[in-house]
Amino acid sequence: MLAYSVRFTLHLVLTPLILRVTLTSTEKNVLFIIADDLRPSLGCYGDTLAKSPNIDQLASKSQTFLNAFAQQAVCAPSRTSLLTSRRPDTTRVYDFGSYWRVQSGNYTTLPQYFKSNGYLTMSVGKVFHPGIASNHTDDYPYSWSIPAYHPTSFIFEKKKMCKGEDGKLHANLLCAVNVTEQPGGILPDMESTDEAVRLLKTRVSDDTPFFLAVGFHKPHIPFRIPQEYLSLYPIDNMTLALDPDVPILLPPVAYNPWTDVRKREDVQKLNISFPYGPIPKDFQLRIRQHYYAAVSYMDSQVGRLLSALDELGLANNTVVVFTSDHGKKLL
Ligand SMILES: *[C@@H]1O[C@H](CO)[C@@H](O)[C@H](O)[C@H]1NC(C)=O
Ligand SMILES: *[C@@H]1O[C@H](CO)[C@@H](O)[C@H](O)[C@H]1NC(C)=O
Ligand SMILES: *[C@@H]1O[C@H](CO)[C@@H](O)[C@H](O)[C@H]1NC(C)=O
Ligand SMILES: *[C@@H]1O[C@H](CO)[C@@H](O)[C@H](O)[C@H]1NC(C)=O
Ligand SMILES: *[C@@H]1O[C@H](CO)[C@@H](O)[C@H](O)[C@H]1NC(C)=O
Ligand SMILES: *[C@@H]1O[C@H](CO)[C@@H](O)[C@H](O)[C@H]1NC(C)=O
Repeated sequence: MLAYSVRFTLHLVLTPLILRVTLTSTEKNVLFIIADDLRPSLGCYGDTLAKSPNIDQLASKSQTFLNAFAQQAVCAPSRTSLLTSRRPDTTRVYDFGSYWRVQSGNYTTLPQYFKSNGYLTMSVGKVFHPGIASNHTDDYPYSWSIPAYHPTSFIFEKKKMCKGEDGKLHANLLCAVNVTEQPGGILPDMESTDEAVRLLKTRVSDDTPFFLAVGFHKPHIPFRIPQEYLSLYPIDNMTLALDPDVPILLPPVAYNPWTDVRKREDVQKLNISFPYGPIPKDFQLRIRQHYYAAVSYMDSQVGRLLSALDELGLANNTVVVFTSDHGKKLL
């Protein structure tokens, strides 16, 4: 793939094709962008509501895969599968509690392969699933030339940061904020973009090819996003999911009671019965509004990365990959 210097856009999980890269004498840099819990709510995938101009523009110059599947609808197994090019039944990582090198085998990862072929490999944000799933190091030093970077403002992500209707701060699911009022005046994905741009600048006068992975936290919940993105999605324009109710014949084993969502204060206030709900329809619409706004916010960070590549004169020599770990069913 590298030999053709193709830019490609993927959704969900890359097929093993990309992981079996053969390097040629014309070594390109790689900018590998992964979003968290992003389903194809993007203009380039035909979603007419989504406003994703930067990713759409990237897609217009790329190979867009329409038939890519997540191996498992959970971050750690999906990312481990993608980054080791092995199915969860091989990695035996099905949740968050194990590190594949110990659990199943000392498999070479995608960035590790680049690293062992002379690339400088760098990780910004959520690329490997953090914690046990990557041995509390994001698989450094196997996969990365330098320790992985994580945005410091992420420590506030699940804290009481969202102004509620009562004027007080809450740990809400729906959390559109005035960024200047947030600690440090910044949000995690903005911080990750800043760091990625800083790293790109250090590459301009260096001939060593690089593999830079940038993992954005949005549109994963909570929807702690700059408030201005909500105005792209007037609530009156929002529609319910095509299947907003629990299917009558659904086997219980196939159901996810969204315990993570239920922990948020605004959701707790709704007194939604366990495990099936339902979530009130007006709240469903607001969740969808915030999800889309989070996609647009993430898209604008992608735009900042691609602009930096252009401005630094790196774009012609850099393969860009955009993907996601899985698109959870949107409530
Ligand atoms: C895993 O593989 C790497 C090289 O790919 C090697 O340096 C390391 O020693 C191996 N670890 C184990 C536990 O075999
Ligand atoms: C995991 O991290 C620990 C502590 O840093 C280290 O001792 C251990 O060797 C690591 N495991 C592997 C398989 O590299
Ligand atoms: C955001 O907060 C800052 C500082 O409190 C304030 O000056 C500004 O007007 C606020 N912006 C909006 C759009 O509310
Ligand atoms: C909302 O829907 C109306 C009617 O379909 C449309 O004209 C308008 O452009 C939509 N607004 C946005 C921001 O998508
Ligand atoms: C939720 O339950 C509490 C306590 O039973 C009650 O005070 C409150 O009004 C309920 N809220 C809703 C939205 O039903
Ligand atoms: C990048 O490639 C395009 C098309 O081949 C060319 O027009 C442009 O000048 C190149 N830009 C740089 C910075 O090399």
